[in-house]
Amino acid sequence: MRFIESNGKKLSEVVLGIMRIDNMSEGEVLNLLNTAYEEGINVIDSADIYGRGQCENILGSVIKNNKALREKFFIQSKCGIRIEDGYNWFDFSKDYIIESVDGILKRMNTEYIDALLLHRPDALMEPEEIAEAFETLEKAGKVRNFGVCNMNSSQIEYLKSCYKGNIIANQLQLSCAFTPMIDASFNVNMQNEASCMKDDGVLNYCRMNDIIIQSWSSLQYGYFQGVFLDNEKYSKLNEVLNRIAEEQDVTKSAIAIAWILRIPGKVQSVIGTTKDYRVREIARACDVELTKKQWYEIYAAAGNRLP
Ligand SMILES: NC(=O)c1ccc[n+]([C@@H]2O[C@H](COP(=O)([O-])OP(=O)(O)OC[C@H]3O[C@@H](n4cnc5c(N)ncnc54)[C@H](OP(=O)(O)O)[C@@H]3O)[C@@H](O)[C@H]2O)c1
Repeated sequence: MRFIESNGKKLSEVVLGIMRIDNMSEGEVLNLLNTAYEEGINVIDSADIYGRGQCENILGSVIKNNKALREKFFIQSKCGIRIEDGYNWFDFSKDYIIESVDGILKRMNTEYIDALLLHRPDALMEPEEIAEAFETLEKAGKVRNFGVCNMNSSQIEYLKSCYKGNIIANQLQLSCAFTPMIDASFNVNMQNEASCMKDDGVLNYCRMNDIIIQSWSSLQYGYFQGVFLDNEKYSKLNEVLNRIAEEQDVTKSAIAIAWILRIPGKVQSVIGTTKDYRVREIARACDVELTKKQWYEIYAAAGNRLP
């Protein structure tokens, strides 16, 4: 495993996401966590809405019955997406953030979380309120670090105009088959669709401001459309991943994650598998350092064009 430093903590570059554990038994989740820890993974990513709270309930039961686990992991969760009356909306109001954290702590049987991330930008956000919520939670010892998800650089700057603490991470969708943030950087001042900068240059912004870039859906294409591995829509990509995997004696899932971790800056990849053997396979991404040529070959094999 490789690690990055953040606020004096050594955090693994591969993070275990628990969005898909809601139908697992406690025993299976314990096994998944133990496997991750054995592989050097020391960060867990959760959110209040995963399985409508069920994912955190299961993690909480596992922590309750295996107390030593809590201190082994840096546990982050998220809030801000509300699902009510059959539709989603976003809420970064002070009271809702504080109330959400109380729910997270209760479900996960823990007195604090290591980080709270805001889940999806709330167009009506008032940074003064967010700052007050963060400061209240930090003072109460309930949350140790704060971050965001799916935000562009100006949204983070807007938040920082009131919140003076560190924003440690920005979690963004990124895989070798989902690259809008990267496409624009090759297509500067061109007339094609790829030249449209949809993210306000957020990768560079994070790098310049010491914010960890965390990839989500690291093995998926589109918006929750599925896994690109062994998918005939991505036959060329699979061919290239397979070949490099064989050369490096790892699986192609490890190569796909190594592709993300090869991006400069502080980068973590959040993985969502529920299978212990896949956690072991993917952890080996940290044994691989792709060359620039290999990185570009994978990018092109996913169907992207370089100018
Ligand atoms: N901030 C946000 O807005 C946001 C949004 C979505 C997700 N997330 C976070 O990101 C994490 C990862 O997202 P994700 O679950 O979509 O990521 P992912 O790692 O791309 O996908 C995992 C899914 O792919 C399946 N899969 C199929 N073949 C696989 C293989 N060879 N290796 C590994 N997995 C394979 C897994 O099935 P098996 O379980 O059978 O292996 C699992 O269903 C989530 O748990 C959550 O913590 C954040």
